[in-house]
Amino acid sequence: MKALVLSGGSGTRLRPFTYSMPKQLMPIANRPVLEHVLENIRALGVSEVAVVVGDRAPEIAAVLGDGARLGLRLTYIRQEQPLGLAHCVKIAREFLGDDDFVMYLGDNMLPQGVEEMAREFTEHRPTAQLVVQRVADPRAFGVAEVAPDGRVTRLVEKPEQPRSDLALTGVYFFTPVIHQAIDKITPSARGELEITDALQWLVSYGATVRAREYTGYWKDTGRAEDVLDCNRELLRGVERSVAGLVDDDSVLTGPVVVEPGARVIRSRIVGPAIVGAGSQVVDSHVGPHTSIGRDCRLHGTAVEDSIVLDGASVIRVPALRGSLIGRSAAVSGADGGTVHHRLVVGDHTQVEVAA
Ligand code: TTP
Repeated sequence: MKALVLSGGSGTRLRPFTYSMPKQLMPIANRPVLEHVLENIRALGVSEVAVVVGDRAPEIAAVLGDGARLGLRLTYIRQEQPLGLAHCVKIAREFLGDDDFVMYLGDNMLPQGVEEMAREFTEHRPTAQLVVQRVADPRAFGVAEVAPDGRVTRLVEKPEQPRSDLALTGVYFFTPVIHQAIDKITPSARGELEITDALQWLVSYGATVRAREYTGYWKDTGRAEDVLDCNRELLRGVERSVAGLVDDDSVLTGPVVVEPGARVIRSRIVGPAIVGAGSQVVDSHVGPHTSIGRDCRLHGTAVEDSIVLDGASVIRVPALRGSLIGRSAAVSGADGGTVHHRLVVGDHTQVEVAA
């Protein structure tokens, strides 16, 4: 089996970050979403992976390289415009050949993994197998109507009156028959070649499309609040490890990671939390549920339930919560403040908050 990871797209919902970085590189527990995705793929025993990339191709390639570090062989396929998920399969035709493959959206996190689904797919080899999850409000999702034996009977994109609460997650298993279906479909009203249309085409022609429920944590990290939620979830699995320097006036409580070269001075860190390599935390309070990237500076600041990206500084901000602070952004406050702030601040931005 091969893998196709979709890492193009426009990322409009994650602006302003996506003006300067691909959303698939957003750090969750200090590792890009895409690395978590690739690790899940590696766990399936798959090593041949094509990554579909858009305008942000160079940044993605700079982080992942040839994949050797992750135990994978990566091929990059350039998509000139985000013309849909099925379009991604179309442009990967040569790479995919006549092999079965798993298609994985590069911004979707399923940390409990999809090994069981992969095993079932390989064993029964339906034409396609979808990974679905029950959701409270299916109207925002692609939805599968499924017979009691697990066969998909109909697929509907964002139904106004859903007849099923099984949403398609970002993971699909395909046999090469999918290429025939994609050749038959035309762009949707929004101008994209939709994978749900290709799947519906298969269902209509009597092919076996199966759905398999995933009951673990699932998040499409498309919006800032999803990224923060996912960060909270992944930090739950962190164990204490202190490689950096923590002075005698600092207190660490619970699962706290202080990466090499980080310095924690006169501060309190409450886990789960990570202080990235080379960062300085001085006279500050960090955590819980907080990831501080590499080479950040926190002085006289309290931050919880947040992500501070690489190179950012937060100085004299007394209470930051539920925030995403972009790369090399500078947030500063005034002495003596007590007000809580919730900020979503893009890369290289400067913000001064009143006390
Ligand atoms: P989406 O999140 O559905 O689309 P998007 O990236 O355009 O985001 P937004 O809605 O915020 O504008 O895409 C799911 C994944 O698939 C994501 O990792 C991007 C990728 N993708 C492609 O690689 N090519 C495409 O043509 C599309 C539509 C998405």
